[in-house]
Amino acid sequence: PRAPAATIVIFGAMGDLARRLLAPALLNLEKAGLLDADTSILGISHGEGDDARLAEHLSAMVEDKAAWQGFAGRIHYLRGDFAEDGLYAALKERLSGNAVFYLATAPSFFAPVAERLGKAGLLGEADGFRRVVIEKPFGTDLASAQALNRCVLAHASEAQIYRIDHFLGKETVQNIAVARFGNPLIEAVWNSRYVDHVEITAAESVAVGTRGKFYDETGALRDMVPNHLFQLLALVGMEPPNSFDAEAVRSEKAKVIAAVRPIAPEDAVRGRYLGGEAGGEAVPAYRDTADVAADSRTETYVAMKVAVETWRWHGVPFYLRTGKALAARDTEIVLTFREAPLTLFRDTAAPTLPPNRLVLQIQPDEGIHLDMAVKKPGPLIETAPATLDFAYGEHFELGHRTGYETLLYDVLIGDQSLFQRADQIEGGWRAVQPLLDAFRTGEPEDYAPGGTGPASADALLARDGRTWNPIA
Ligand code: BG6
Repeated sequence: PRAPAATIVIFGAMGDLARRLLAPALLNLEKAGLLDADTSILGISHGEGDDARLAEHLSAMVEDKAAWQGFAGRIHYLRGDFAEDGLYAALKERLSGNAVFYLATAPSFFAPVAERLGKAGLLGEADGFRRVVIEKPFGTDLASAQALNRCVLAHASEAQIYRIDHFLGKETVQNIAVARFGNPLIEAVWNSRYVDHVEITAAESVAVGTRGKFYDETGALRDMVPNHLFQLLALVGMEPPNSFDAEAVRSEKAKVIAAVRPIAPEDAVRGRYLGGEAGGEAVPAYRDTADVAADSRTETYVAMKVAVETWRWHGVPFYLRTGKALAARDTEIVLTFREAPLTLFRDTAAPTLPPNRLVLQIQPDEGIHLDMAVKKPGPLIETAPATLDFAYGEHFELGHRTGYETLLYDVLIGDQSLFQRADQIEGGWRAVQPLLDAFRTGEPEDYAPGGTGPASADALLARDGRTWNPIA
């Protein structure tokens, strides 16, 4: 169904996010017939500009130029300084009815813009809904996230706030809930009785590249863990909600995140890539990257062992890792199951059977795979590993989507399921805060690009008699 008409006000419309993701996603929604004909975009930026120039900027990544032609007439430009009251007075003049304020700005503007929107009376919902979309990073640690929540919540209700985590827009991330709660067979073994351990990996072959300024202040931990990886952890770890309503789902996710024991520095490893090659490209050492301090101690890789202290997961470690300039782009969740209680097959070639593993492949090559043992054909009882494979792309037309389509549509229809509530955000930061504190001193361990990260990451699992699923 078509979403209600609204003005989508984009703060930072001349930026990269608006061009790379928001504009193509909005056009995809339009083409799918999900946008109202009266929905328009009002882009705000500080520079000289006009409607045509903004439409031109936003068209850069759009593939279907013909469809864009029709859409471009609904794009308007408003010049303004985010920190000046005049902008908000002008907005007040222009806006009526439903509006979405999309903060595609540098994070330092999140609080000031929300505050000014509130003070200017732009968040009152007397003549239509008013929603605020906030990009990541939401804070840089627990205290700053709490302060940002306090500020935003002083001017808008939780129901008006949409904190984006773009991982939740990914098709296969949403499929985690369906895989579990749509399949009793799977959910039946989804607990400490059957699961030995869980791995959550978000490996990237790309290096930091041109994002040195942002990345050097951020690092792999802040960039990926309390947000993206914890959202995956929450979907894996949550209890079945009593309905699929936003609040029911968000509450269950928040409970799991709250149950994560703050991570001890001895249970974490950080790394930094050296120069070499990754993903078929030459990679300069992280410290030689543009806009990175020569004496930077920022990590480009982090791995950790996480305890989820719930009835379901007691004693089942969750191992999380993420990094740049690794062997491949590979985002996956792997559940390794406990061994059979008894080894029945006296197979001298393979005296122990490999454990069952369920791999939820998030990207690329989205799918679900189950490693099993089978009998090799022949007169002897010999076992062999085999994999049951479900490849998304073989069954469905995946199309070209940014992942932002679902998120933007949900903002317009007022469904907060895929957005982070204040308690989830703060819970994530609370769990990683001991690592943020510890990482202020010492140095990350060097690793060669194009590989699997620092040697200590393997040692972290070897300590428990385990190994990571290969990055491939
Ligand atoms: C972003 C991080 O949030 O997620 C990036 O800032 C990272 O550093 C990106 O590359 C990964 O997202 P995706 O969708 O490419 O897996």
